[in-house]
Amino acid sequence: MARLLDGTELSRVMREEMAQEVAALRAVGVTPGLSVVLVGNNPASRAYVASKTRACEALGMKGQTLELPEDVSKEELFATIDRLNTDPEVHGILVQLPLPAHLPYKAILEHIRPEKDVDGFHPLNAGLAFVGDPRAFVPCTPAGIMEMLRRENIPTRGRHAVIVGRSLIVSKPLASLLVAPGPDATLTLTHRHTPDLAHHTRQADILIVAVGKQNLITADMVKPGVVVIDVGQNRVPDPGSARGYKMVGDVDFDNVSQVASAITPVPGGVGPMTITMLLANTLQAARQAHQARAT
Ligand code: GUN
Repeated sequence: MARLLDGTELSRVMREEMAQEVAALRAVGVTPGLSVVLVGNNPASRAYVASKTRACEALGMKGQTLELPEDVSKEELFATIDRLNTDPEVHGILVQLPLPAHLPYKAILEHIRPEKDVDGFHPLNAGLAFVGDPRAFVPCTPAGIMEMLRRENIPTRGRHAVIVGRSLIVSKPLASLLVAPGPDATLTLTHRHTPDLAHHTRQADILIVAVGKQNLITADMVKPGVVVIDVGQNRVPDPGSARGYKMVGDVDFDNVSQVASAITPVPGGVGPMTITMLLANTLQAARQAHQARAT
C-alpha cells in the first residue's frame, strides 16, 4: 500500500508558519487582504470560493467575496476589478473560473494588476514564472504540487515526470517548474491527442494527472513504485452521503495505491495545498506592497 501524501497535514504546518508572518505584518499595520470575485451560481465555484476566504480569515488575513450575477456585463466586471486594483487594502485579487461564456476571460484576467494577481494567470506573471523570475506569482496548484514534493522529500532530479493534461492553470506552469534548475526533472507532457497514453504513464517515476476524468488512470497504467499526484476533482453521485455526492480524482485510487509508493488522496491531497499557496501568494503580495510603499 502506497504512502499517503497528506495535503491537509502539510497545509496545517505551512499555515502555522504563515500565521506568524501575518502577525508580523499586522504589527506594522498591514493586514493582508484577498478579494475573490464570484460570477453566477456554479455550486462547485461557490464552495471553492468559500473555502478560500475562510482559510484567509483563519490565518488573520482579510478575505472578502464579491458576488456578481450570472448576466453581469463585462463593463461592470471591469469596473469591479478597477476598484479592487486601486484599493490599498486589497493585496490579492482572484476572479473565480470558469466564467460565463459571454465574458472574455482572458481580457478579464489581464485587467487584474499583475502585482495583485495571486492566481498567477496574468500573462506578465506567466512570463516571469517561465523565465524563473522570483517576482512571479506562480499559479497555486502547480506551486502546491512542487511544495508537496519538496516537503515529502520526493527526489525529482533526473527522474521522469509524466504529466497528463495541458491546461494553462496546472500542467503548463507545472512543466516549467519541474524542468527548472533545482527540481531538474525529465519531462513528458501528454494530453488528449497523445496516442497510447499508457505507454507514457508506465514510464513515469512521478505521474501527475490533471484532466478531470474519473478512473482515467488504472493500475495497469503505472509502474511499481511510482509517485502519483492526482489533481482531478470530480463530483460523483453518492446517495448515502449528506451532500448526495462525493469527490474523486482522475486515478483509480483503490487499485493504483496497491502499486504506487506514494499517492495523493482526493479529497485531502492537492486541494488543500492549492489553497495554502493562494494564502502564500496573498502574503507575498502584501509584503511586496508594503515594501514598495516603504521605499
Ligand atoms: N477554478 C478552478 N481552479 C481555479 C484557480 O486556481 N483559480 C481560479 N481563479 N479559478 C479556478
